[in-house]
Amino acid sequence: MEKTTFKGSVMLNPVPVVMVSSKDKEGKSNVFTVAWIGTICSKPPMLSISIRPERASYKTIEDTKEFIVNIPSSKQVYETDFCGVRSATQIDKIKEMNFTMKSGSIVNVDYINECPINIECKVTQIIKLGCHDLFLAEVVQTHIDSSLINETGKICFDQANLLSYCHGEYYPITKNPVGKFGFSVVKNKELKKTYTEKYSDKKENTQKTSGKKESSKKKSSKSSEKIKQNSNKK
Ligand SMILES: Cc1cc2nc3c(=O)[nH]c(=O)nc-3n(C[C@H](O)[C@H](O)[C@H](O)COP(=O)(O)O)c2cc1C
Repeated sequence: MEKTTFKGSVMLNPVPVVMVSSKDKEGKSNVFTVAWIGTICSKPPMLSISIRPERASYKTIEDTKEFIVNIPSSKQVYETDFCGVRSATQIDKIKEMNFTMKSGSIVNVDYINECPINIECKVTQIIKLGCHDLFLAEVVQTHIDSSLINETGKICFDQANLLSYCHGEYYPITKNPVGKFGFSVVKNKELKKTYTEKYSDKKENTQKTSGKKESSKKKSSKSSEKIKQNSNKK
């Protein structure tokens, strides 16, 4: 693979894109879009968001040390973009987008009920970086659309039709995974067979030389998967 180099630029793609809600000391709520967000610790559960000081949301979150991350579905791509190109200094985005706001249970911030996942956060540290400042925060509560939780209690994120952001454009997360945590090293024979059937066409695809189209798609195996949900152990 031949490479072209780009000097020091922001190239991490794709990234999540979320709407962050906050409530100022006068009780006024606001929502703004954030793509510079990431999980930073599992225990305690923590995430970070980077905010430019000129955002109206910056002062509110700096003052109250609380915010809620609202993860949108692809159906909310319009709202997600709108809240990222209009400021609370110009317009009431919550009214304009017709969001239903519900009170957080731990933090004094409202969340967007239409978003399938809402994560309540308390800021622990603000680190000055450059054009953005990094807000480290502890996750204190999460609300998940109950229809995404199956009979075994598993959260089916694949059913949430989530959204990602890549180089200026929004993309849906598809329902067709190309692999699973740990599948590359699984030893159990039955599981190995299941995974080979389920993911092999994808493996072939990635190894195929370009231009060749897949002739037929193999059907996913219906065999039960006994592996524990490991993704939260990362
Ligand atoms: C896709 C997208 C991602 C964005 N990510 C960030 C971000 O990570 N940090 C930030 O400070 N602004 C980000 N913005 C810009 C703010 O969302 C935007 O300036 C917004 O109008 C600020 O709203 P406020 O002034 O009401 O707080 C993003 C905008 C878009 C469209």
